[in-house]
Amino acid sequence: MSHRKWNITIAILLLIFISLLACFYLSTMRIRQLIQPILSDDSSQAAMHHVILISQELDNPYWRSIEQGAIDASAKYGMQLEYEGPIRIDPQEQIKLLEKAISAKADAVLVQGMNDPQSVAIINQAVSQGIPVITVDTDEPTSKRLSYVGTNNADAGKTMGELVAKAAENRGSVAVMIGNELAPNQQLRLEGFRSVISRFPELSLVDVRSSDISRLQATGETEKLLIQYPNLEYMVGLSALDGIGIADAVERLRPNGPQIFAFDALQETLMQIASGKIHSTIVQQPYDMGYDAITLLNDFFQGKKLPEQHFTKIKVMDQPTLKNETGETGS
Ligand code: BGC
Repeated sequence: MSHRKWNITIAILLLIFISLLACFYLSTMRIRQLIQPILSDDSSQAAMHHVILISQELDNPYWRSIEQGAIDASAKYGMQLEYEGPIRIDPQEQIKLLEKAISAKADAVLVQGMNDPQSVAIINQAVSQGIPVITVDTDEPTSKRLSYVGTNNADAGKTMGELVAKAAENRGSVAVMIGNELAPNQQLRLEGFRSVISRFPELSLVDVRSSDISRLQATGETEKLLIQYPNLEYMVGLSALDGIGIADAVERLRPNGPQIFAFDALQETLMQIASGKIHSTIVQQPYDMGYDAITLLNDFFQGKKLPEQHFTKIKVMDQPTLKNETGETGS
């Protein structure tokens, strides 16, 4: 082959090589463009903290409000919230869910305190593994939980005592329904209540029963109380479904019977206040508990020190305050 032909062949090969290189470069750029959104999505997923909230009972309306607050705050702070809980109140199941959350390596856990050595041990194990735990609704003060978010339950019990003493003009007989015998928040409310009632010698606490946070059970226990104490004048419910459960039994057995004092602001409780079947209720802020617990977690992830306890507010709601706030009347 002549010298000239060689030059032409080399030039053609060089051109082919350069165009292949250009094609390769362009397709690399195209692939990079295509996978960029997937890559950045992956990294935001990885950065998103996965928080597990464990309730006392999955579909209890009070716990659903805590969940809603936690969902809204999670959306604000870019966290991913998972809500779990036993179908019916079951402390053993709650402990299992706590264990599961830790072995699943959640980034943080919100859980109800249970005053149980097993739950304390698991919370401590979580914290030692670097998983922050915040107690909501009920504290577990002997554990290494980072903070407690919820009502000051002893104070709420005292407020209930003062409410009843005032309505009763410091005399009469009262029975109490607690949500659960083992739940520390219920015990604190009861202690606070007793501490006020015991100041009045003519006001006596005749019985304490448990509803196991079930409306039906509150009704059943109230029926027994009304039979056992035909002159009972006041009844107090210390958890969310007790007031309306008590009211069901009172309406059936003694419609002009004991005056009822409730806890929390379920829609039906407010309706019964409006219609005069329930005297008043102590309103907790479950939505704020969920919202504030996630806000504190966000502070923690940003390196801030959390307060030992973060108390959410309570307020008393009776017919006049209800009317003021909502314009609702009994008619
Ligand atoms: C209590 C919760 C409980 C709920 C049950 C609330 O008053 O604070 O601990 O789970 O009632 O209905």
